[in-house]
Amino acid sequence: MSLRLGVMASGRGSNFLAVQREIEDGTLDAEIALLVSDRARAPAFDRAREHDVPSLHLPYDKQDREAFERTAADAFDRAACDYILLAGFMRILTPYFIRRFSGRILNIHPSLLPSFKGLHPQRQALEAGVKFSGCTVHLVTEDLDAGPILAQAVVPVYENDDEDRLAARILAQEHRVYPEAVRALTAAGG
Ligand code: GRF
Repeated sequence: MSLRLGVMASGRGSNFLAVQREIEDGTLDAEIALLVSDRARAPAFDRAREHDVPSLHLPYDKQDREAFERTAADAFDRAACDYILLAGFMRILTPYFIRRFSGRILNIHPSLLPSFKGLHPQRQALEAGVKFSGCTVHLVTEDLDAGPILAQAVVPVYENDDEDRLAARILAQEHRVYPEAVRALTAAGG
């Protein structure tokens, strides 16, 4: 079943691009119907323009987080999105948004959850001295980085790694595993 996807991103947008590329290559039966970002200058917007993906900047108001979320959710509904993919979206969603798309929001996190939730997971992995880390695609629930796991990939952690080197190794796997997790949803009939 072909899925309509909404994406939320705050920055570079390489995961967004990885999903879009598989759609264009025909290996993923889906369409990114709308990209939403809270940052006007997010490089993700350039990627959206280059790939003809509709996009929308919504200013984020810390005093009224639901206002942002309501506008975003209405836009995703108007675009008839089946699933929302968080791809480097740096805001924590409130229960309002999570309930509105219950079971239909995915996130990618650069650690092997349930280890190293929250910020700087690659740094946390180095500090813990683990020999393997990786990334996790999971459903978003009201508990941060704790929803049901859909897919994971493992990478080695080397003695001389720094945060950037480890992050790059993990990111390469994110680009493989995020489209794969979405493909599993299409295979399951959405
Ligand atoms: C990725 O490492 C993702 O796992 C994390 O934020 C980063 C976003 O990168 N949630 P990009 O914007 O997709 O390039």
